[in-house]
Amino acid sequence: MSRSYRIAQMAGDGIGPEVVGQARKVVEAAAAKKGFDLSWVDYPFGAEHYLKTGEVLPESVLAELKSCQALLLGAVGDPRVKPGILERGILLKLRFFFDMYVNLRPAKAFPRVPLPVPLPEGKAMDLLVVRENTEDFYVGLGGEGDAPIDLGLRRGLYTMEGEMKVRFSTAQRSAFQIGLATEEGVRRITADACRRAEARGEKRITLATKANAMPQLYGFWEEIARDEMTRRGFDFETVNVDALCYHLVRTPWKWNVVLCPNMFGDIVSDLLAALSGGLGVAAGANIGDSLGMFEPVHGSAPDIAGQNRANPVAAILSAGLMLDCLGESEAARVVENAVEAFLETARPEEFPEEMGGRGKTTAVGDAILSRI
Ligand code: NAD
Ligand code: IPM
Ligand code: MN
Repeated sequence: MSRSYRIAQMAGDGIGPEVVGQARKVVEAAAAKKGFDLSWVDYPFGAEHYLKTGEVLPESVLAELKSCQALLLGAVGDPRVKPGILERGILLKLRFFFDMYVNLRPAKAFPRVPLPVPLPEGKAMDLLVVRENTEDFYVGLGGEGDAPIDLGLRRGLYTMEGEMKVRFSTAQRSAFQIGLATEEGVRRITADACRRAEARGEKRITLATKANAMPQLYGFWEEIARDEMTRRGFDFETVNVDALCYHLVRTPWKWNVVLCPNMFGDIVSDLLAALSGGLGVAAGANIGDSLGMFEPVHGSAPDIAGQNRANPVAAILSAGLMLDCLGESEAARVVENAVEAFLETARPEEFPEEMGGRGKTTAVGDAILSRI
């Protein structure tokens, strides 16, 4: 019997279904070529489902997902729904529930893809953002006003309990958002960044920090990450994240693995997406010790949704990362090679709009499929 993998699909909102449709047909072809198959379990969660039923992501689905080997996600978020409901309720819920502590976001400039800041002759841009994915300001601890803020938290590594009360001397409206880092949380993501740098044949890792303004949180990060990297024999360099953004724009070829706390990683990865050709080429993987979730860096792009205009390359490459994590590295290479072949040989007008062409989402998907 041939190998088979059970894959959950949440296409989500906006351009999510448009790009996931392309990713799915491309990875199915790569799987067929390499002699295995993918069976899909489709989930309807996202704005439409929420507006119709009031349901965001039921607990029963979290249990069900344990029987799948990976999850392919498009994007969630819709202008008709208050920000946070779907993003926290679906995307972050999945990242936290399955303790997907690594968010991998490669930023590679492929040949012929127009770049906003062209690379000098002979220079290549090939970075890997390793973003911590479970802590920092994303933990969801916060509140408004002087009501006690519940610090209760459940993570794969620990549970936390507590309460914070604030009183001002005068009547003040106020709001808090609390950032958190734990030693094990920092060590495990740093160790992962080291392993990935090693696999790329590199000994240098850059940590995006902001210990100058937030020494409690990011000074702690630096201390633990430095210790972990030194123990593993890596050269450790910290760069304030604001200056890092400046340098990334001016000299993107100089950087390799960039380790980021959660929020900086979010911001830096959109910046790098822009520098490497657009959000439509920026792939991503959320990985932990159980279910992995694969999704492009971009969101639901309501401004172009429903028009067959989105660039599906990021979703296709994300599905390629999924095959790699399933242990199907040859099939993963087939996907990446097909994307590269498309970018190397397509006529300029066949390129997606984002890259200056007139290629529709489905046409770009078909053109990549034809190169499998
Ligand atoms: P976005 O990434 O959706 O869009 C930013 C810009 O990039 C837009 O102009 C969009 O048209 C363009 N863009 C994005 N992907 C593209 C593609 N594949 N091809 C061509 N152009 C593309 O970011 P946003 O506007 O901040 O967010 C829109 C919604 O998506 C919000 O609800 C947000 O919360 C949500 N969001 C979801 C995820 C996710 O589910 N993983 C990620 C980011 C944002
Ligand atoms: C991303 C997104 C999410 C994040 C949002 C939608 C919560 O921007 O995956 O980059 O901030 O992580
Ligand atoms: Mn983001």
